[in-house]
Amino acid sequence: MMGDPIQHLREEHVVLLAQFAALETAVARLQAEGSAALPQVLPICQAVGQMMASQLDRHRRKEDDVLFPAVEAVIGAGGVTAVMRDEHKDIHAYGKTFRQTLHELHEVEHPRIEAGGERLRHLSAHGGDAASLIATANDILYLVKIHFEKEEQVLFPMIPQLLSGQRLASLYADMLAISR
Ligand SMILES: [Fe+2]
Ligand SMILES: [Fe+2]
Repeated sequence: MMGDPIQHLREEHVVLLAQFAALETAVARLQAEGSAALPQVLPICQAVGQMMASQLDRHRRKEDDVLFPAVEAVIGAGGVTAVMRDEHKDIHAYGKTFRQTLHELHEVEHPRIEAGGERLRHLSAHGGDAASLIATANDILYLVKIHFEKEEQVLFPMIPQLLSGQRLASLYADMLAISR
């Protein structure tokens, strides 16, 4: 089908997962090499943190605001879309924590920050260190992979039975409006 919204979401998953794979590699390096790897690893983490707030959030809106309401109009709001909506909230909450941890790490790395010892003690008291960055990144990677799998294997295969080709074409147009 031309302009298939489900194919569009599947293709976005592929693009998003490629960026999460870069995060996975960076985190493995941080785990192996410790804080010495931070200068190389932080820019990759920053990029993924920004991606989650922009590109991944647009993807979420295409589901929460376009696809799910159309599905819920047919089968009601209590089923699989409710679970997906909850998982979106979890993933984006972790994304926020990830960006906060990065921000704290960035301040420590920043050469103009003085009294670094005090700042470091504050960070370790609040979990804003490389270890918590690794933990949050691993939580994100786990949640995102499981979430995309559920959509692709449970929700998306239901769609052709629920929505007409004409309805799908109009959903696709609504999704493209979010891309712009
Ligand atoms: Fe989703
Ligand atoms: Fe998705």
